[in-house]
Amino acid sequence: MSAISITEIGIDELDPVMAIMAAAFDPGYGEAWTESQTLSMLVLPGVWLSLARIDGRPAGFALNRQIADEAELLLLAVAPDCRRQGVALALIDRTLALLRNRNGHRLHLEVRHNNPAIELYKRAGFTLIGRRPGYYHGIDGQIHDALTLSSVVQPA
Ligand SMILES: CC(C)(COP(=O)(O)OP(=O)(O)OC[C@H]1O[C@@H](n2cnc3c(N)ncnc32)[C@H](O)[C@@H]1OP(=O)(O)O)[C@@H](O)C(=O)NCCC(=O)NCCS
Repeated sequence: MSAISITEIGIDELDPVMAIMAAAFDPGYGEAWTESQTLSMLVLPGVWLSLARIDGRPAGFALNRQIADEAELLLLAVAPDCRRQGVALALIDRTLALLRNRNGHRLHLEVRHNNPAIELYKRAGFTLIGRRPGYYHGIDGQIHDALTLSSVVQPA
């Protein structure tokens, strides 16, 4: 059975994250961040990046930002050949566990209305709290609504 391990990484360890970023996101939607966008977010206070590995090999990442007792899951991605093995669920659990230790009470995220990741978030206990019309602009000029989902950080 494969072992998933997760660690928080710094700005000098971005290579595996950028490789997963390039492979994971559908280029049609323009949702992948560039290295400079990722770096400029990572240097802000309250931002952290978790890298998941399967048997030591980089498999997925989560980028999070906490402000006061609320946090946002900014990006979550798993390499295509590592999917459906629980990596994303493990990254969400890790984010919730870290928030619990940092007095975080809620975790929010935005997801494109037609992204199958919505099933993952429902499975992880997120609920729908809003819809933002025309929030995403695809590279083909199409616009897509975002759903805002939220999860309460349960006490341990
Ligand atoms: C969405 C994504 C992060 C899921 O990663 P993953 O590691 O495969 O997810 P998990 O294995 O933890 O999935 C756990 C459960 O979530 C649900 N789920 C995950 N991906 C799903 C999909 N594509 N369609 C339907 N349900 C899905 C299933 O219930 C799954 O359990 P199962 O495999 O036993 O059926 C991955 O597909 C990805 O990187 N997608 C591209 C980037 C993206 O859209 N990120 C989210 C928006 S920022």
